[in-house]
Formats: sequence, structure tokens, C-alpha cells
Amino acid sequence: MTPTPAREDHFSFGLWTVGWQARDPFGDPTRPALDPVEAVHRLAELGAWGVTFHDDDLVAFGSDEGTREKQITRFREALDETGMVVPMVTTNLFTHPVFKDGGFTSNDRGVRRYAIRKVMRNLELAAELGASTYVFWGGREGSETDSAKDVRAALSRYKEAMDLLCEFVLDRGYGLRFAIEPKPNEPRGDILLPTVGSALAFITSLEHSEMVGVNPEVGHEQMAGMNFVHSISQALWQEKLFHIDLNGQRGPKFDQDLIFGHGDLLSAFFLVDLLENGGPSGAPAYDGPRHFDYKPLRTEGIDGVWASARANMVTYLLLKERAAAFRADPEVQAALTASKVGELAVPTLDEGEGYQQLLADRSAFEDFDLEAAAGFSYGFVHLDQLAVEHALGAR
Ligand code: GCO
Ligand code: MN
Ligand code: MN
Repeated sequence: MTPTPAREDHFSFGLWTVGWQARDPFGDPTRPALDPVEAVHRLAELGAWGVTFHDDDLVAFGSDEGTREKQITRFREALDETGMVVPMVTTNLFTHPVFKDGGFTSNDRGVRRYAIRKVMRNLELAAELGASTYVFWGGREGSETDSAKDVRAALSRYKEAMDLLCEFVLDRGYGLRFAIEPKPNEPRGDILLPTVGSALAFITSLEHSEMVGVNPEVGHEQMAGMNFVHSISQALWQEKLFHIDLNGQRGPKFDQDLIFGHGDLLSAFFLVDLLENGGPSGAPAYDGPRHFDYKPLRTEGIDGVWASARANMVTYLLLKERAAAFRADPEVQAALTASKVGELAVPTLDEGEGYQQLLADRSAFEDFDLEAAAGFSYGFVHLDQLAVEHALGAR
């Protein structure tokens, strides 16, 4: 029995995901172009709630004003007819050859000015469509050589662009928040802000850092060998998880953009548990869109495209059911206590205690029972096996 996706689940998809024609570095497209209007209708029928897009997904690069207006009107009509929303919008600063050395951080100053203008034009549209998040994925912001890129200068230009665009959004009263999407490489040999940690650190340098967060993608962190659940936990802890790109990846290799859960399934289970139940903390964690950024396999026809869109949502809902069962199981509760998982939430010092009191506490050091503490068996294996059994539906 599989669950049925519904609008209340807040699932959203990029137009570029189901619309991917499957052109790759070695082969031609295997599918015809998909009209964004059809994508909106089909996704709505499947139970999705929102669509997202790059400027060029909706209106082909270089279209004249008339064509642009016509496309936007058709798209708006599809949204009205289906009730689909546009929670997030982003910019394509990577396909056109002009961006081959980057957008905000190209060595060519003219390209940088053009990139900022391209974003500003699309921010106006994002605001008109009621988006609340604007994503910055700097796929071309990087290098293949250490000789040709002054990385410190590039970060200054990145900051300059972000500061300016924050000011633009604030002055216009758009109410949008920005989310930076990290990725370690591809298409550049090395991309700036390669991980969630790097992006979080960069954000602290911005003039309006309060309106800038992150949009982590499962596969991108895993390409860098990171634990995605840890990355998301830190983003939540710093109140910077503004958006999320869900997909699948099998270890550090090229960006696979697989269906959610079709990579590291156990990590996906713990991710859903974190988003839905707050993980071990049990506090509400994330109420933003559950956004899928994946690529339907190149082997598939259009039927496989819709099957894959549905697969993302159903897999998420199944993991949500499994995670709820895991948290509700009394045996799990007992195992959590035995493993002292909740004890980590207790501050290390008592209220009002300082280092003097800690120094005076002989039980903390001189009389501390080192052997008992060192000999304690934490029981993590038992707890984790319970999680695996719940994830597999055996409990
Ligand atoms: C990737 C990225 C992109 C971005 C998207 C938003 O797979 O490399 O996820 O798909 O998310 O372009 O700007
Ligand atoms: Mn990706
Ligand atoms: Mn993405």
C-alpha cells in the first residue's frame, strides 16, 4: 500500500527536472521538449503543490519582450487553473557561453554586471509570482586552474553581488529571502562555496546576512563526502535552512541527481526523520517546501518522467511513515534512553555554575570514575538496528 501525495505535503519540483531532455556530455537528448504549462498540469495531477524555475526554463534565453510576456501569461494561467504555487525561483547563470568563467565572479567585469542585471530582471518576476525564496546556485563560479582565479577577489565580488541584490530586494519590499546552494564541482572543476559549511561561513560576511540562508542538495554534499544529515542539522541549528533540494546520490562521483531515496536510502530515512520529527531533539525542524531537484533517468520516455516524479513523493511519504513509527516505538524510546541520547541536550555545567565551581567539583575530575565511564557500553548498535528494521518495514 503506497501513500498518495497531496497538496498539504508541500512537494515542489523544478521545471528543469521533469523538463530535462536528457542531454549529457556524451549524448544527445532522448526526450522531446516539455511545455512548462503541461508540466504544471501533470505535476498538479500527481499531487504536487508547487513549481520552481530558472528564468530560462520558462522563457528561452534571448526571447523578445512580446514572447516573454506571452510565456509568462500562459504559465500564470496554468497556475490559476491548477492552484499550483511558485515558492522558489532562481537564475540560470551557467548555460550561455558568456558565463563560462562565472557570473558574479567572472574575471570579465562586463559579464559580472550583466549577470547581476539578469538576476534583477528575474527577481521582479519572482516577486510578481509570489515566491518567498530565491536560490543562488553558482555552478560556474569557480575554476579549473589555481593560476587564473584570485579566489579572495572572487569572494569579494560574490559578496558585492549578494549585498547589492539584498539591497535591491529590501528597497523594492519584495519580502524574498535568498538561499545559496553549495556544490563542490561540476560544471567547474572546483566551485566556490563547495559545501554547506563554506556557504554558512560566507553568509556571515554579508551586509544583510539575516536574509540569506542555504539551499543544500542531498547529492551535492554527498559528492563532497559529507554526511547530509549533519549538514542539514547544522543549517537548522544556525536557523539557515531556507530551502532544500531532495534527490539521490551514490557516493562521491559525478552529480547523479537520482530520485530521492534511490541513493543512500538510510541517510534519506534519517533526513526525513530530521525534517519531520526533528530527529532525536524532537522539536519541529523545517516547514518549508519539500523540493525535488533530480533528473529522470536518460533511459526513460515521458511515462518514466511522470513515474519518477511520483516516485520522489511516494518515497518521501513512505519514509515519513517509517520515521513516525520509529519515534513512536517504546523499544526505541528505551534504547534512546539506554544510549543517553537525550542526555546530550542537558548543559554540561549546572545553571549558574562557572569554571571555578567546576574546578572545585572533585567528582568531575579527582574522584571521577574513569573506569566506569570508559567501560560503559553505549548500545548504539541496538538503537541503529531498530532504525534499520523500522526503515525496512519489519516493525
Ligand atoms: C545541480 C543543481 C542545479 C541547481 C539549480 C538551481 O544539480 O547541479 O542542483 O540543478 O539546483 O540549477 O539553480
Ligand atoms: Mn545536483
Ligand atoms: Mn539543486
